[in-house]
Amino acid sequence: MRRRERSEMVKMTLLMMVVMMSSMLMTMVDSSRTVQRARDDSEILRRHLLANGLGVTPPMGWNSWNHFNCNINEKVIKETADALVTTGLSKLGYNYVNIDDCWAELARDKKGKLVPKKSTFPSGIKALADYVHSKGLKLGIYSDAGYLTCSKTMPGSLGYEEKDAKTFAEWGIDYLKYDNCNHDGSRPTVRYPVMTRALMKSGRPIFHSLCEWGDMHPALWGAPIGNSWRTTNDISDNWSSMISIADMNEIYAEHARPGGWNDPDMLEVGNGGMTKDEYIVHFSIWAISKAPLLLGCDIRNMNKETMEIVANKEVIAINQDPHGVQAKKARMEGDIQVWAGPLSGYRVALLLLNRGPKRSDIAAFWDDIEIPANSIVEARDLWEHKTLKQKFVGKLTATVDSHACKLYILKPVA
Ligand code: GLA
Repeated sequence: MRRRERSEMVKMTLLMMVVMMSSMLMTMVDSSRTVQRARDDSEILRRHLLANGLGVTPPMGWNSWNHFNCNINEKVIKETADALVTTGLSKLGYNYVNIDDCWAELARDKKGKLVPKKSTFPSGIKALADYVHSKGLKLGIYSDAGYLTCSKTMPGSLGYEEKDAKTFAEWGIDYLKYDNCNHDGSRPTVRYPVMTRALMKSGRPIFHSLCEWGDMHPALWGAPIGNSWRTTNDISDNWSSMISIADMNEIYAEHARPGGWNDPDMLEVGNGGMTKDEYIVHFSIWAISKAPLLLGCDIRNMNKETMEIVANKEVIAINQDPHGVQAKKARMEGDIQVWAGPLSGYRVALLLLNRGPKRSDIAAFWDDIEIPANSIVEARDLWEHKTLKQKFVGKLTATVDSHACKLYILKPVA
């Protein structure tokens, strides 16, 4: 081979190598772009997984479990819907009628569909949904991310997510409480999104309430999957259970936001295990914590005291404030606590809480509750239903009975 030919060949080889290398480089860039795109897609999916537009403010309504446990039937549900309307509670925002555990037969039908329990829900859930909707209310139902629900009297939805979500949508269900019993041992972060996707695929906007009891800190991963997430174990109708749950839920305050709320469990107000003051504390903390306000008593037989508490419009308005920020503990001194949270219009919700055995003075300092130092503040007492004549500078002090609270809305006026 002549020298010229040889050098031509070397050139060609070099050129081919350059072309090959640049194409390899392009492939690498391309595949990293693909990976990036996939990442972006999954980010979009992650953020929009639960794009159902529900829970812009915390849900309000009723749930059967705290009062009735498994003793439910279609008559109780219908009468409760009637009572929500006749008492005026539905006008205040209590519009979800939520059936908890024990509504279905233990066996699915031949096609694998859930079957409403014949002895207690003979007309079926669709008829019940039609009835509840005719009253201007919404119907909620219960299932479980396991093989059986917690009562073990009916199947869970694990492995049947799409079928069940489709059934719920066909029936006209508006809210699903999804529990965490009797599963296969896989993580809730694996089991719960399957139902989220199934609900989205069903095409009906269904509020998704994750009932994972706070085991794996759902406040940290619940937002793209659920509209609310339980942060604690089950509430009982007594002071120590209620207050300890309030404490546990407070830890996650930063994670609550419109569309996704911390859920410290359903209300016990009206079930008889606490004093009036204790129930006022219970309702006040749930309201300022932007918790779902799901009544748990027998709405058909509420006394005046219970009604006065749960129908307090101004307290409900704190819960439903468009700002959607959960209140937090601002100061703690033994049994004395100050809780506060911002509201729309530069206002502040302030709770003075006495957890101790003796009546005490409690002071809230502007510094602790994020009100500018020199502000002159007007205070509205939400349980006394009056705006205090005195204007406050720097702090507000009040005397609070044992196991009681004061709840104010503070408004800087100068
Ligand atoms: C669990 C839930 C409760 C209730 C029961 C029903 O304990 O946390 O709220 O739904 O199951 O069995």
